[in-house]
Amino acid sequence: MTGQVAGKVALVTGGASGIGQAIAELLSEEGASVVLTDVDELKGPQVVAGITKAGGEAIFLHQDVTSEPRWAEIIGEIERRFGRLDVLVSNAGIGIGAPSIVEMSLADWRRQTAINLDGVFLSVKYSLPLMRKTSAKTGGGSIVMMSSLAGLRGAPTLAGYSATKGGVRLFAKSVAMECASLGDGIRVNSVHPGIIDTPIWGKIPSGGTASSQNAPIDCEGLAKAATPLGRAGKAREIAQGVLFLASDASSYLTGSELVIDGGMFAGTTPRRPS
Ligand code: NAI
Repeated sequence: MTGQVAGKVALVTGGASGIGQAIAELLSEEGASVVLTDVDELKGPQVVAGITKAGGEAIFLHQDVTSEPRWAEIIGEIERRFGRLDVLVSNAGIGIGAPSIVEMSLADWRRQTAINLDGVFLSVKYSLPLMRKTSAKTGGGSIVMMSSLAGLRGAPTLAGYSATKGGVRLFAKSVAMECASLGDGIRVNSVHPGIIDTPIWGKIPSGGTASSQNAPIDCEGLAKAATPLGRAGKAREIAQGVLFLASDASSYLTGSELVIDGGMFAGTTPRRPS
């Protein structure tokens, strides 16, 4: 198969839904063998079935990214099956809102940090050794970490989420510096989506307690008002950016941040009535 990532093996966490699903599908379309992991045992195999039906190669492995023993097993399984790992996309994440930070429970703060930040740390800790082995033969590898626009600027009601995503942003830069200083060929970059239409918006608990009910957020309405381009982004539009970072086309990019947000970070000019 030819394509922008032909012959590469890519691991995508949180690949059963939204942005992760779109990344897994696009990397496969562009020739990668994809290992998709998620806690969702129902949707994960469905995404793999879709990729396989379209002629791609993918497997699903059940994984909670906060479990350290499972990380060792996942990487062991990838080495056994494929003998290499070229691309890591640390994408799994959740969002927990709170009307005020004083109403956020410590349990929610810790749960969100465990998935969004500890999970990314573990992904790198366990993937890098196999990626370095691979890079010693192929000359390169790419780690892409899913941060957020909320990792670049503050967001009321999402202070805990912003803290995790800001952490991911600088974690990526520091790992990029480690890899560059060792000359191991691994590039590391972060991606910062704005408002993207995925199932996450229906899952964000906003009551501020661990037992709070989901309050679905109107993502399209929010994006229309807040985004210079006047609409929510599509998961596929984030996947296109990840594809670029995963491929050799971005060979001179490391420690960088790719903002894909319909212009939100550039300014707040309200849209003019048409
Ligand atoms: P989503 O909810 O559609 O998908 C997230 C996936 O992660 C789900 O399949 C879920 O089962 C999985 N997941 C959750 N906890 C997990 C765990 N402990 N271990 C393994 N998998 C787990 O959400 P979406 O929108 O696709 O989000 C993907 C990433 O993009 C997240 O890191 C999110 O913070 C980030 N992001 C999303 C934005 C948006 O507007 N949708 C904006 C900025 C960043």
